[in-house]
Amino acid sequence: MKDAQPRAIFLKDYQEPDFWIKKTDLDFQLNDEYCEVTSTLTFVRNDKADKNAALILHGQDLDLQSLAIDGKALSEEDWQTAEESLTIHSVPDAFELRCVTRIKPQDNTSLEGLYRSRTMYCTQCEAEGFRKITYYLDRPDVMSEFSTRIEADKNAFPILLSNGNPVESGEADNGRHWVKWHDPHLKPAYLFALVAGNLCNIDDKFITQSGREVLLRIFVEEKDTDKVDHAMQSLKRAMKWDEDVYGREYDLDIFMIVAVDDFNMGAMENKGLNIFNTSCVLANKDTTTDFSFQRVEAVVAHEYFHNWSGNRVTCRDWFQLSLKEGFTVFRDSEFSADMNSRTVKRVEDVSLLRTLQFAEDAGPMAHPVQPASFIEISNFYTLTIYEKGAEVVRMIHSLLGPELFRKGSDLYFERHDGQAVTIEDFVAAMADVSGRDFNQFMRWYRQAGTPVLTISDRYDANAQTYTLTVKQSCPPTPESESKLPYHLPLKMGLLGDAGALPLKLRGAAADTETADNTSIVLEVKDAEESFVFENVQEKPVPSLLRDFSAPVKLKYNYSRMDLARLMSLDTDGFCRWDASQQFALQVIYDVMRDLTKAPSPEVDEAFIEACKAVLEDESLDPAIVALMLTLPSEDYIAELATVIDVESIHFARNHVKRKLAQKLYATFLQVYERLQTHEAYSPDAESIARRSLKNLALHYLVQSGKEEGLKLAEAQFDNADNMTDSQAALTNIAHAGSSAAESLAERCLKDFYGRWKNESLVVNQWFSIQARNPQRDALKRVETLMQHEAFDFNNPNKLRSVLGGFAMGNPINFHDRSGNGYAFLAQQILKLNKQNPQMASRLLTPLTKWKKYDEHRQKLMKAQLEIIKKEEKLSPDVYEVVTKSLS
Ligand code: TRP
Ligand code: ZN
Repeated sequence: MKDAQPRAIFLKDYQEPDFWIKKTDLDFQLNDEYCEVTSTLTFVRNDKADKNAALILHGQDLDLQSLAIDGKALSEEDWQTAEESLTIHSVPDAFELRCVTRIKPQDNTSLEGLYRSRTMYCTQCEAEGFRKITYYLDRPDVMSEFSTRIEADKNAFPILLSNGNPVESGEADNGRHWVKWHDPHLKPAYLFALVAGNLCNIDDKFITQSGREVLLRIFVEEKDTDKVDHAMQSLKRAMKWDEDVYGREYDLDIFMIVAVDDFNMGAMENKGLNIFNTSCVLANKDTTTDFSFQRVEAVVAHEYFHNWSGNRVTCRDWFQLSLKEGFTVFRDSEFSADMNSRTVKRVEDVSLLRTLQFAEDAGPMAHPVQPASFIEISNFYTLTIYEKGAEVVRMIHSLLGPELFRKGSDLYFERHDGQAVTIEDFVAAMADVSGRDFNQFMRWYRQAGTPVLTISDRYDANAQTYTLTVKQSCPPTPESESKLPYHLPLKMGLLGDAGALPLKLRGAAADTETADNTSIVLEVKDAEESFVFENVQEKPVPSLLRDFSAPVKLKYNYSRMDLARLMSLDTDGFCRWDASQQFALQVIYDVMRDLTKAPSPEVDEAFIEACKAVLEDESLDPAIVALMLTLPSEDYIAELATVIDVESIHFARNHVKRKLAQKLYATFLQVYERLQTHEAYSPDAESIARRSLKNLALHYLVQSGKEEGLKLAEAQFDNADNMTDSQAALTNIAHAGSSAAESLAERCLKDFYGRWKNESLVVNQWFSIQARNPQRDALKRVETLMQHEAFDFNNPNKLRSVLGGFAMGNPINFHDRSGNGYAFLAQQILKLNKQNPQMASRLLTPLTKWKKYDEHRQKLMKAQLEIIKKEEKLSPDVYEVVTKSLS
């Protein structure tokens, strides 16, 4: 017999809760066999609620021991439990409920609620994990004042933490001790946190803008105390930046971060007690790559910024998730842009969005930034909520300009401090300070799908006018067939033979033009509209969608000469990079077309020349050069395709890469040699930039197939004094694929593991490099890796490295025509379904894209989805993704 199918809930059905919880007092008795949780909750009936409404609390997997109201024990007739709730039939308008439950953190493999990670206990309550700790109104609009008492064995768990300030502590019988915490700020249950363990702390302090001293404390296991400094410095920079740019000050006397090994996501912004995946907090030069250094800085900042955008002002319901996530991603990406290179950060963000978010928007799980319904909220921590949500906030920023945007955010924080609000409230603050009309703009929140801008132009040499015609449309998505036009900022400029041209837009007030007069933000609102520029002395090449000013697909018919001009002359770094990508795409498409006729088609010389010019231009930021010389990923090419031709994409892209490598070998070698350094390692933006270009050069040198390339990689592997260089060398060797590389690869992988087997995060990288190896036989290797002593099926980071690496980072092997990759993944998902539904559902993503593949693969992928769907006890997480993918 099948259980009742999980049901969708709808934004339009939102109602305030029948009760509020003024105070939440929790007592945790941590024992080896179970944890006993005693909650004392102060309820008052909502004025607007029915006087006879019963009290219905959320609860899941709880062993209920006793219930009492105002000190009087309840008997069995007074209440009733179901799978996920507790109903108390009749309650007064104001009362204190005391509830004792038992839970088993040691058996909790879902990693939500209270669970054990290695030697410690920790919690993850967002979105709906608190209900696995005790019965509660587990919804973000119920905000309460929390006190938490934790008691545990003093030897095993000397550190006992929760939100807010420690207020009391003491010894208890049998070698136990306890600590009591109090959080003065009202918060929803999803921001609750508890940690108990044997941890070391690294301390620092921060003086806020008003002169208060805040204690900063990062807790890690003893072995990791040498990897905390970068997170601490990042935290201090983030605190300062939020004061400078948003005027936001921290609001408690202590801010804590705890690193845990088993974590479903990157990190969590629990009030005053952030909990981090070790991969997003630990860093040092021996064990951490440049990429991870920057990720740590970004995630530390992201979680810190949530203290205002998320905690002080929180979400009314989970349909508003992007209220905090979109805004906070926008904030952290601006922070990273200010700390490092703005253009590089923008290119990285846009690549992610255009590759993965656009694919999500084109698939069966597409949803608006403010979804209208969902079955399982955990499935909605998506690229759309986070990255597209951030792009929508960025567009508001572009439309208003920095000063008005700041006024809007000040008003938002002031007006809604201590409240649980909606996306509409956020936009209303922006509208109120600017007097602008955001009604049409709200479609960015309510319509799913990626808009397409089709731009055409006409130059009139006699009148010296240049006319741009912009048409917009948006493909259908599951929630709606037809879309209304969007209001969007289109930032652009015009390039003449010698560079940027001054702009004079017909009918525009002078102040819509920027100071330098060569860049302008056009506001597009209609399905089709035209913009006329006057006094244009020569036929220009348009530089469109500067800074990627709106999350759209842009179609404009650039010639290859136009693209070369943009690559060398545009003043907008993003557009220069994008021109290189569009040029590369055209060249890859040429090869895809010609591969069927000739085994080794020629690659357009103009492209090779353009690449050479970029490589030789020492005035450019090396990081930008590296990005421009990186060919569009297989995933991005796939996203752009109507039907994904797995093999052709893979071989054409590799062919272009090899030709580039061979024709520009001498240039790559020069670059590689020029960027060698004897300076000590430092993860600052400039050094990272130089390493990124050096390692890109190494990649081409190896890909050229010349023996010398491989020798250089080997030397780099043996001599590297930092993880970035070491890992780049190892990846190049392991993925080289030539028979000459085979034994070298084996030797290096073995050495690398031997050297780093005690550093779990490095071992994850080692797993990932192998799982992503594009050479044949990948599936066999992955199966072997899963038997490896260091693999752990219960650890999400290991799953992501091996299963995620294979299914999402190795398209040519995962999509092997045999279908073995699909069948393998489906089996792993079934295994994970019960153990960790969130991970199971995330790993399912590649199979959901089946409609984009050829008929043969469609059948194979669909068959695996059907097999999963047939499983008896599907978690709501997997159920939602599987059923939506098959409908
Ligand atoms: N709010 C977290 C963030 O900063 C997201 C998060 C962390 C999360 N852990 C989670 C979401 C577990 C769902 C489940 O983005
Ligand atoms: Zn977040």
